[in-house]
Amino acid sequence: MTAVLNPTPVAGSGSRDVLTLAGLGPEGLRALLDLTTRLKADPEPFRGALAGGRVAMIFDKPSTRTRVSFESAAWLLGALPIVLRPDELQLGRGETIADTARALSLYVDALTVRTYAQATVEELADAASIPVINALTNEHHPCQALADVVTLEEEFGTLKGVRVAFVGDGDNVCHSLIQAASLVGFELQVATPRGYEPMEEIVWTAQVLCRETGGSITVSHEPARAVHGADAVYADTWTSMGHEAEQVARRTAFRGFRVDQKLMDRAAPSAVFLHCLPAHRGEEVTDEVIDGPASRVWPQAANRLHTETALLYSAITGDVNGVLLG
Ligand code: CP
Ligand code: NVA
Repeated sequence: MTAVLNPTPVAGSGSRDVLTLAGLGPEGLRALLDLTTRLKADPEPFRGALAGGRVAMIFDKPSTRTRVSFESAAWLLGALPIVLRPDELQLGRGETIADTARALSLYVDALTVRTYAQATVEELADAASIPVINALTNEHHPCQALADVVTLEEEFGTLKGVRVAFVGDGDNVCHSLIQAASLVGFELQVATPRGYEPMEEIVWTAQVLCRETGGSITVSHEPARAVHGADAVYADTWTSMGHEAEQVARRTAFRGFRVDQKLMDRAAPSAVFLHCLPAHRGEEVTDEVIDGPASRVWPQAANRLHTETALLYSAITGDVNGVLLG
C-alpha cells in the first residue's frame, strides 16, 4: 500500500520533529526500532511509500554516513532528496533561520539538518510546518544513537542488562547514547577526561527516566573502571567537528582514553567494539581493535541506512507502527 504524505498521525499526536533522542520517548523509540527491524527483514513495502515526496537536507558540517544514508533512504522511499549547503542558501546571506524554515516548508515534506548549535534546529523546527530531523548538532546525534541501539539489540538479542562503556568526549554522540540508555533501559558507564563530561542536565534527566526503564548511567574519569566487565565498548573522536582549534590540547587531555587491546581485555570476554565513525586510528582507537574480531563498526554504520529509512518514513507519514504499509 502506498502511504499518503502528511496524513493524520497514526501513532501519537505529538510533534514529528526528532531534535533529540529523548524527544521520541520510550514508546516512540521502541516503535521506531520495531519499524527498523521490519524494514531490514523486508524493505519491499517501504519501496516507493513516499512517492512524490521531497526531503531537504541541510549540511552545515561534513558528513559521509549521514548524508549518503539519508539520501539513499529518501530514494528507497521514492522521495526526492535535496541536499543543501549553507553557502547555497540565502541563509548564508542573512535570511533568518525562521524564514528559511517557512520557505522550505512550502516545497518539501521534511527537513534534515546537520549544524552547530542545537538552538538552530530548535528554531528551524519552531518555524517549520514540516518535521525537522537533527542530523547532528554539537549537543546531540539522535540518528547515530538509533543505529547504535539497533546494533546492540541485534548483537545481544535484548537491551535489558546489557552493559555499555563509552570512553571519550561527553558531547553529542555521548549525550544521545545516554538518552538511549534511559529510553530503552541498558546500563551505560561513561568515562571522560576532566572538563569533558556530558552536560549534567542531560545526565540527570536520563537518570530519572532510568528509574522507570531499568537503565543506569554513571559518569567517571576512569576508562578501566567503566570498561570492566562491559558487553560493549564505544569510542568517538577526541576532536569533534567545530573543535579543530583545540586538537593539540585535546590530544593531551584524552591521553589514557584510547581504546586499545589492553583496555578491551578488561571488558567481558565476548565484548564488542562500537564507534560512530569517522575513526581517527591511533588516537581514540587502535587498528588492532577497530579491525579486530570484536569490532562491529561496519554493521553499526550499515544500520544507519535502515534507521534513517524508518525515521524518514515515520516522520513524514506519522505512521510509526507501519499500519499504512499493510
Ligand atoms: N557517524 C556519522 O554521523 O558519520 P558522518 O559524519 O560521516 O555522517
Ligand atoms: N562527535 C563527532 C561525531 C561525528 C559523527 C563530531 O561531532 O564530529
